[in-house]
Amino acid sequence: MIAFDKLFLMPTSGCKSTKYSAAIPTRARCRLEAYSAIMSIAHEIKHARRVVALTGAGISAESGLGTFRGKDGLWSKYDPALVASIESFTRDPHAFWEFAREIGWIFLTAKPNAAHTALAELETMKRLDYVITQNVDGLHQRAGSKRVIEIHGNAGRIICTRCSAEYATEKIVDRIAREDVPTCDRCGGSLKPDVILFGEPLPKRAFDLALKKVKSADLLIAVGTSLEVYPAASLPEIAKKSGARIISIDSERTGWDDLCDYKVSGPAGEILPRIVQAIRITF
Ligand code: OAD
Repeated sequence: MIAFDKLFLMPTSGCKSTKYSAAIPTRARCRLEAYSAIMSIAHEIKHARRVVALTGAGISAESGLGTFRGKDGLWSKYDPALVASIESFTRDPHAFWEFAREIGWIFLTAKPNAAHTALAELETMKRLDYVITQNVDGLHQRAGSKRVIEIHGNAGRIICTRCSAEYATEKIVDRIAREDVPTCDRCGGSLKPDVILFGEPLPKRAFDLALKKVKSADLLIAVGTSLEVYPAASLPEIAKKSGARIISIDSERTGWDDLCDYKVSGPAGEILPRIVQAIRITF
């Protein structure tokens, strides 16, 4: 018996949800609707031609990584313009590295959670074409996903801002801990995690591939993203215009819920495995 106590379907305008009699108590109705939405989403995935997932910080929340927005988000404690922009890095790499060290160590120890695993399983089942992720934690790959497009880079790599030499973060952790601003062995230039800071362009090849996949998808599943940062935020709308149906799995209401055909609200680590299970046992 699957418990749906924590899952709530958030109705959105134009959102598909089964209507139940008002005689059914609200909590039971929410559970029924969540169950119904999960079954409907499983059906959509099973019968779609090409499915892409677009993930954000929320999918890694259950791995212990913080999200950016919301009341406990990273940006409620730090001003991104001061610590996470290319302009601030260039002006004061010392302050940037202090911040990066403070938030960065968790990336080295975090493990994929059930939501990452569920997406990897969908790929293995040939039900998911690509994961497009705004995350830089590498957890999709560690969960077994092979087709991952990282549009904001990957914190597992460190690059030289002068000669573009590349280092594996785990190989130079001692130096990162020791040196104020780690520098390149080869040319002495300042090192920087290979992640996109505000004010930097997205990696062109990765974003072009993401656009191509989104345009050819007939189903896009967004997981754990507020979609407040462009150009990633434009991807669901582009998919919709190209004829795709849109699903959102997020623990909260977001500003773009109206775009969705289905929205299930709750922890991704609980919802995604249930969808995978529903695909396996039904249809
Ligand atoms: P946000 O922090 O903006 O949004 C995270 C979303 O995840 C929110 O909508 C939460 O409600 C949801 N969430 C939290 N826990 C969840 C859970 N367990 N299951 C499901 N959903 C959950 O993060 P992003 O949308 O990823 O960019 O932010 C986009 C970009 O803004 C990031 O890539 C980063 C940031 O500034 C750069 O650094 C360039």
